Amino acid sequence: MSAGLNKVIIPVAGLGTRLLPISKSIPKEMVPVLDRPLIQHVVEEALAAGLNEVILVTRGGKSAVEDHFDSHYEIEAELERKGKTALLEALRGIAPPELKITSVRQDRALGLGHAIHCAAHLIPSEEAFAVILPDVLVKPQVDDTGCDLKAMVAAFQSQQAAQIMVERVPLERVDQYGIVDCDGAEPAAGECLPIKGLVEKPARNQAPSRLSVIGRYILPGTIMQHLAETGPGAGGEIQLTDAIADLIRQGDAVHAFRMSGRTFDCGHIPGWLQANTVLGREAGLLEPDRGDASV
Ligand code: G1P
Repeated sequence: MSAGLNKVIIPVAGLGTRLLPISKSIPKEMVPVLDRPLIQHVVEEALAAGLNEVILVTRGGKSAVEDHFDSHYEIEAELERKGKTALLEALRGIAPPELKITSVRQDRALGLGHAIHCAAHLIPSEEAFAVILPDVLVKPQVDDTGCDLKAMVAAFQSQQAAQIMVERVPLERVDQYGIVDCDGAEPAAGECLPIKGLVEKPARNQAPSRLSVIGRYILPGTIMQHLAETGPGAGGEIQLTDAIADLIRQGDAVHAFRMSGRTFDCGHIPGWLQANTVLGREAGLLEPDRGDASV
């Protein structure tokens, strides 16, 4: 597997049904968390990890996602005229010169694995790439920079093995995620261990562990061949998890990288509210919790 890693696929074609009615006419990736849309948070995360070639897998009706990374001549000219330099720079900083955005279309909603495969022609088989699921906001521990996507890229480069970011979830939530099997072991925060297998949304009594896939992956380009041959799995959808399990069965090394910090599933209302509340307090935008509301 090549050590060069610049590309990241971000699937944004989902309908966002869990965020309705907010997402009826706004793409769910444009829903704000604090002062910026979700998609901007994840593109910033990608850039911080050195992933500057972003491939959006999108669909009709979601052009606002791409537009967010275009320059906006009228606003920029107006801010310049008024001397609002800080705001102007913040706006231009959304798409720094190194950011290259390409988009491809997913014409049918056949699942995450199918969405990733829609970008197969842009990924040479000898090239590794990352995947970020934009519903999930990852906030690594502030003083612990060794546990984020950037650290996972470093782990990929030193180990030359595919990486999947995981966190521990309560047993009652294992049936909502991909769950990895590290042969009974659990990596420490910021470390990785080989995965023996993984399963999408297992029943509680069949989960091989409580380590869940949170939506950050570094995969070899050869996964595209596996995806091409993957049939419908959990929920009747073509699952990325199944193609990765196949890769492991064929002898490829895939590691579970343990993050530490918090994740927020902003693809549904409670997770999105929680992200705004917790991060709003952290950023000093909201008053501290006085114990009269639990988040
Ligand atoms: C997807 C993946 C799953 C992963 C989850 C993280 O599921 O298939 O393995 O654990 O994202 O959010 P989805 O949430 O799209 O059903």
